[in-house]
Amino acid sequence: MNSVLNIINANKNFDGTIALDDFSLDVPKSSIIGIIGPNGAGKTTLFNVITGFLTPDSGKIIYSGRDLNGLSPYRITRLGMVRTFQQLRLITRISVLDNRRGSVAST
Ligand SMILES: Nc1ncnc2c1ncn2[C@@H]1O[C@H](COP(=O)(O)OP(=O)(O)OP(=O)(O)O)[C@@H](O)[C@H]1O
Ligand SMILES: [Mg+2]
Repeated sequence: MNSVLNIINANKNFDGTIALDDFSLDVPKSSIIGIIGPNGAGKTTLFNVITGFLTPDSGKIIYSGRDLNGLSPYRITRLGMVRTFQQLRLITRISVLDNRRGSVAST
């Protein structure tokens, strides 16, 4: 398979607010992809759904050929999917490099 991540028709609705509307994306191996959009477009929701912090209402997230449905964030992380957060928090008792390690996707 040439894609490392497949997002297939992901939907997420918050009490009537449609944050993800049939969102699909294939991320090829070794590629760098940017997600852009205005405030409230659904970017953070997308990252939350990819990393298991939120469950999509419908749709599939396939990472390295594996369906992430129902997996908790720490299990998804163990598969190699890592993220940073929109409101960055540094851990002051570890080094700058260790803070940075594993930070790939930013929301
Ligand atoms: N936990 C939540 N409960 C209710 N509504 C939410 C929740 N999270 C996001 N939303 C709504 O979903 C929509 C998408 O929000 P999201 O935070 O994903 O946008 P964003 O593209 O990351 O915006 P920004 O550029 O401001 O970070 C917005 O209308 C937001 O208010
Ligand atoms: Mg955001």
